[in-house]
Amino acid sequence: RDELLFSYKGIRYPITICSPETFKALESFEARSDDIVLAGYLKSGTNWLSQIINDLIAVSKKKTQGRESNVNDEELGEFPYLEVGDAEKYERMTKLPCPRFMVTHLRPENLPKSIFKNKVKILLLLRNPKDVATSFYHFSNGIATLPSYETWDDFFTDFMTKKLAWGCYLEYLSEWNKYIDEENIMTITYEELKENRALGVKNIAAFLGIPLTEEELQFVAERSSFQSMKKNSENTHGAFGDVFFRKGVVSDWKNIFSEDQNEKMDKAFEEHVAGTKLGKKLKYDLYCK
Ligand code: A3P
Repeated sequence: RDELLFSYKGIRYPITICSPETFKALESFEARSDDIVLAGYLKSGTNWLSQIINDLIAVSKKKTQGRESNVNDEELGEFPYLEVGDAEKYERMTKLPCPRFMVTHLRPENLPKSIFKNKVKILLLLRNPKDVATSFYHFSNGIATLPSYETWDDFFTDFMTKKLAWGCYLEYLSEWNKYIDEENIMTITYEELKENRALGVKNIAAFLGIPLTEEELQFVAERSSFQSMKKNSENTHGAFGDVFFRKGVVSDWKNIFSEDQNEKMDKAFEEHVAGTKLGKKLKYDLYCK
C-alpha cells in the first residue's frame, strides 16, 4: 500500500498525481483576489460543488456577453485541483481568464499564503466524518491512484490512524476551524445541500457575488442533482463515472460501521472538533448517531 503514497510535510499524497516538486512550486503560487477556491476533504462532495460553481460562473459569463444563459459541458472552464499535476501548471494558470476557479483537499496551513493575503473567496465544504470514511473506502477500492483495501476494518484503522492520502479528516476539520470566522470564507455542508439544493445554490451564488435570476439558479440546481450528474458522468469522468458518483446519500455509514467503530469515531470527534464552531455546523448528533 505504501508504494502509492509519498509524504510531504508529514501528510501522505498519491505519488501518481501529486509530487514534491508541485508542492514546492505551489508555495509561491500568486492568487488573484477574484480567484474562487473550493476547499473540501476527499469524498465530501467536491465534484458536486465543483459543477455547481463552474456552472454559476459559466452562466453568468454568457449572460454578460448577451448570450443564452444555459450551458453545456464543453463550455465549462477548467477547474484544476490545486495540488494535483505537474509543477509547471501554476505558470499555465497565469493565462486563465478571471475568475479562476480551483479545488483543493489541502489543509489551510498547506495552502499558498497569497490565498489568505489576497482575501480569495473560499467555499469550505464539510461532510459528516462517518460518511466521508465510508465513501473514501469504496473510492479507494475503485481507483488505481489510491491503495486498495481487502476489508473495511483495515481501511477504518488507517482512517483513524492518519495513514490515508491527504491526512486525517478530523485534524483537517480542526485546522479549518481556525479560519471559519474570516469574512471571505463560507461553509456549506453536504447534508444541508442534500436537504435543499436550490437554497444551497442560491447561497453559493450570493456569496460569490454572481447575480442570477431564479430561473438561472434553478437551471444550475437541476443540472447538479445526483441523478443528472451520474447520468452525465461518462462525459465528465469517463470510465470512472460510477466511482465518483456512487450512492449520493446521507447516512450510508449505517451499512458498514460496527458498534465498536461507531464508538471510536464518536470519541475521536469529541476530542478533535465536537466543541468547535465548525464541529457544530456538522450536526453530528443528527447525522452520525
Ligand atoms: P458517496 O460515495 O457516499 O456516494 P468527491 O466528489 O469529493 O469525491 O465526493 C464524492 C461523494 O459525493 C460520493 O459520495 C458521491 O456519490 C457524492 N456526490 C457526487 N455528486 C453528488 C450529487 N450531485 N449529489 C449528492 N451526492 C453527490
